[in-house]
Amino acid sequence: MTITTNSPQETEKFGIKLSQKLTGGDILLLSGDLGAGKTALVKGIAKGLGIQNEITSPTFTLMNIYDIKDKKRKIETMVHIDTYRLLGKRQHCLPCRMARKNYKYIKEQSS
Ligand SMILES: Nc1ncnc2c1ncn2[C@@H]1O[C@H](COP(=O)(O)OP(=O)(O)OP(=O)(O)O)[C@@H](O)[C@H]1O
Ligand SMILES: [Mg+2]
Repeated sequence: MTITTNSPQETEKFGIKLSQKLTGGDILLLSGDLGAGKTALVKGIAKGLGIQNEITSPTFTLMNIYDIKDKKRKIETMVHIDTYRLLGKRQHCLPCRMARKNYKYIKEQSS
């Protein structure tokens, strides 16, 4: 399936929609060049999950964890991992193994 967005706002909106499909334990793999819009998508997903923190790329932290404070929601946490520095180097890296197995895989393309 291909979904085309023409602005960061549209990408975010799609992220909100996508968040409604998540049930907990979902792993989404985002692949795209620097500036492709991965974080824009994650911003939308976070918004849709009720996360109010500002979302930034975990480029240097490798991983950002956001608690979802709304107890009525089934999902309690969103973990945002950047595997850029792990790919190819640590073959035991779980997200890398899943990428190879083609789990829910979203490929972003720069326009
Ligand atoms: N359709 C679009 N969707 C998302 N971002 C877009 C789009 N069109 C243009 N942009 C611009 O592209 C940039 C996307 O940045 P973003 O931080 O989301 O990318 P990224 O893939 O997370 O990059 P990095 O790998 O460096 O973390 C923003 O500056 C945004 O304004
Ligand atoms: Mg990013």
